[in-house]
Amino acid sequence: MTESDIVRIGIDLGTTVVVVATTEGEVPKVCQQFPAIVNLSTNKVGEKAKIDGKPQDIIYEAKKYMGATAVEAATITKEAHHPYKMDGNMFVGTDKTKTRPEELSAALLKEVKANFPGKQVEAIITVPAYFKDAQRQATKDAAELAGIKVHELLNEPTAATLTYTDLVPSGAKILTCDVGGGTLDISAITKTDNKLKVEATSGDPHMGGRQIDRMLANWALKKTKKKTTTVTAKMLEDCNRAKHLLTTQDQTEIQILGEKVKISLVEFERLVRPFLTRINTYIDNTLELAEWTRKDVDIVILAGGTSRVRVLREIVAEELPEASIMNGVDEDEAIALGAAHRLRALTAPPEATGIVMVTEIAGETIGVGTLGDVFSPILWKNTPLPATRTLPYKTSADFQSQVLIEVKAGDDCWASNNRLLGVFHMEVLPMPRGELTVFVTFKMSVDNILTVVATEDGGLRRKKTVCIKKTGDRNLTKEEMSICLAKAEKAAAQEIS
Ligand SMILES: Nc1ncnc2c1ncn2[C@@H]1O[C@H](COP(=O)(O)OP(=O)(O)OP(=O)(O)O)[C@@H](O)[C@H]1O
Ligand SMILES: [Mg+2]
Repeated sequence: MTESDIVRIGIDLGTTVVVVATTEGEVPKVCQQFPAIVNLSTNKVGEKAKIDGKPQDIIYEAKKYMGATAVEAATITKEAHHPYKMDGNMFVGTDKTKTRPEELSAALLKEVKANFPGKQVEAIITVPAYFKDAQRQATKDAAELAGIKVHELLNEPTAATLTYTDLVPSGAKILTCDVGGGTLDISAITKTDNKLKVEATSGDPHMGGRQIDRMLANWALKKTKKKTTTVTAKMLEDCNRAKHLLTTQDQTEIQILGEKVKISLVEFERLVRPFLTRINTYIDNTLELAEWTRKDVDIVILAGGTSRVRVLREIVAEELPEASIMNGVDEDEAIALGAAHRLRALTAPPEATGIVMVTEIAGETIGVGTLGDVFSPILWKNTPLPATRTLPYKTSADFQSQVLIEVKAGDDCWASNNRLLGVFHMEVLPMPRGELTVFVTFKMSVDNILTVVATEDGGLRRKKTVCIKKTGDRNLTKEEMSICLAKAEKAAAQEIS
């Protein structure tokens, strides 16, 4: 494989839109953009997925389900009112076949890969900063299924910030808000020389353009003479169009159930302002975590398609009147461009100068459950990454021959109230209680993937290393991955033949 056989790209695998930027040429450029929609019956992706087929087969917003347990998937479905059917965390097509969210993301990534026939595709894929380990792992699994080599997962607000770094002075405190189709993601970032350091992140997985479309549809339905309250995908699409028009004009019409409902910008803003004002809670939360005051913020970067909504920009400007809001990069493109910037930096020759380094932080506190259900944190939330920390633990029973290590994430002092990431057993030399120590090391990579190493101190000095990939029924096991790969190969063969 020579350098010319490789293409390197940044991929913003969004909830509603997939954007790809190439690293070739002087500066990164967007080379592909399509709606994040997959049709289960026709296997078509993007705009083509909307044609033919029943609503049950047309899957959009699959990203929301990445890494979700069956219980979490049920909650998401309840809130989102999607027309598609779920069985646990799998999508059920009209032909009764079940598809995992990773497979749907893989279908989107294959559409990206197909743009570069015969090439080895290497990428940085962006994910929301608040994505937990299972969601990150599911994203990596999707790339593996699609045959794309992932150098790193990059947090979306960090990626957006990277596109602006040349314009930001050293020492600046930056607050980057990515308001996309389905989610809000905020990071507090400092720039010093050629380094970006993420100080804190926070976000809301249910605050984005889709929710605005739904609010508009409900409002418009009430204005019609019809009695129905059911919002259809078509209505959401029409409301989406109206919302876009209201960023450049003061009035428009929504086509709904054969009627035309007029809406002015003033009415639109009155309707969505209370919802969008919620961004202030997350801004305050991020500032508190970063130990910044509102006055500390020098620059606000707004990214994501929903940041085009005028009233949102007003709300942010009112909340942070002393900060300057940066413009210039297309709101939809900034994240993919930032990912391409980062991949260039990672793969550039060592002598290249002016490369921006990034320090990410751990998104949540992780530790182990100990005797009496006490949670013992090992790596704290907001620790700069990569990070490694070891703590010693004593055995709790006489002559126990095994220790059980329960890896958990969360902020509660009781282990049972925190989220289980994984469990493993390790054989130890039976000794009186408390006489044997097991050192537990947590290693967290820059993309928030955790490896746990347990080492017996004394005894036989046995050691066990576990990559915390699996969290209950969230992620693919090796066997499931092989099945999905075989399924994908079969589908590809059918497409060719
Ligand atoms: N001119 C506009 N006015 C209002 N909203 C817009 C405009 N342009 C795009 N949007 C909205 O932006 C959203 C898509 O933004 P973006 O591409 O950043 O989201 P995403 O990356 O797919 O989602 P997420 O970041 O939540 O995963 C859609 O809801 C779209 O309707
Ligand atoms: Mg996005």
